[in-house]
Amino acid sequence: MNLKGKVVIVSGAGSGIGAKTAEFFSRANANTVLVDMNEAKMKNVSEKCKAFGAELIVIKADVSNNEDAKRIIDTTLKKFGKIDVLVNSAAVACYGSILDETFMKSYDGMVNINLRAILQLTCLAAPYLIKTKGNIVNISSVASMQTSRNIGAYATLKAALNHFTRTAAAELGCSGVRVNAISPGPTYTDIIKNSGAPFTFEDLKSATLLNRISEPDEIADLILYLASDKSKGITGSNFVIDNGNLLM
Ligand SMILES: NC(=O)c1ccc[n+]([C@@H]2O[C@H](COP(=O)([O-])OP(=O)(O)OC[C@H]3O[C@@H](n4cnc5c(N)ncnc54)[C@H](OP(=O)(O)O)[C@@H]3O)[C@@H](O)[C@H]2O)c1
Repeated sequence: MNLKGKVVIVSGAGSGIGAKTAEFFSRANANTVLVDMNEAKMKNVSEKCKAFGAELIVIKADVSNNEDAKRIIDTTLKKFGKIDVLVNSAAVACYGSILDETFMKSYDGMVNINLRAILQLTCLAAPYLIKTKGNIVNISSVASMQTSRNIGAYATLKAALNHFTRTAAAELGCSGVRVNAISPGPTYTDIIKNSGAPFTFEDLKSATLLNRISEPDEIADLILYLASDKSKGITGSNFVIDNGNLLM
């Protein structure tokens, strides 16, 4: 795929799915904007991106911070003059039951990153995406469609993200802007370890029809497809990529 000349913002580009996505956009010759809070992790990713020769910017930012969100858009426009694609991958997951005293604290910690930040970046980027007839890819989760225990707050926010994706697609479609979501199933990244869950990805294999866990590059391939003109007729959709997890 050749995305030469396209300007792509990827949040959560320091790790996992966002990192592989930034790498694949650079490999496709896109001008890529790497956004994450973790500068050290982004340095590793940016080295890989630079090896492909495409231009990139690295922005250390907390997507849930209003000023940082504005800085992401302003810095991108200053350097590249336009925005073609916004990929919202940054998120955190907190494991915990409704019966835990920490449930609401976990929710409060997640809501600004996993949901509000995406709404805000969408609002800030939309006027520029209209100019390029660009698109947005939101990274949701199969958790948005399941009733798994102990991830209720995370799952609820992902379900809300699915609805916002459709709402944004409906509102921006007449301006030529597409908005889609991808719902991965278990995918090897740091997310489970960081969530405090008492299991590993290996424990989740048997919860999939194909008895496997995805690699981040499988999700990144789908993100690039949705971001490219190959999917020019797709908007308001939510693509599941879960090794058959939802059918179990
Ligand atoms: N991996 C899975 O099994 C799976 C399944 C379904 C959906 N997803 C979704 O896929 C997306 C990517 O997750 P992942 O699995 O790749 O997890 P990951 O490896 O933990 O990557 C998430 C990245 O987002 C960054 N981030 C967190 N809060 C941020 C903030 N406020 N501002 C900027 N960056 C922030 C993290 O930085 P730190 O490392 O510093 O926190 C991390 O680099 C998420 O939306 C997740 O919900 C993942």
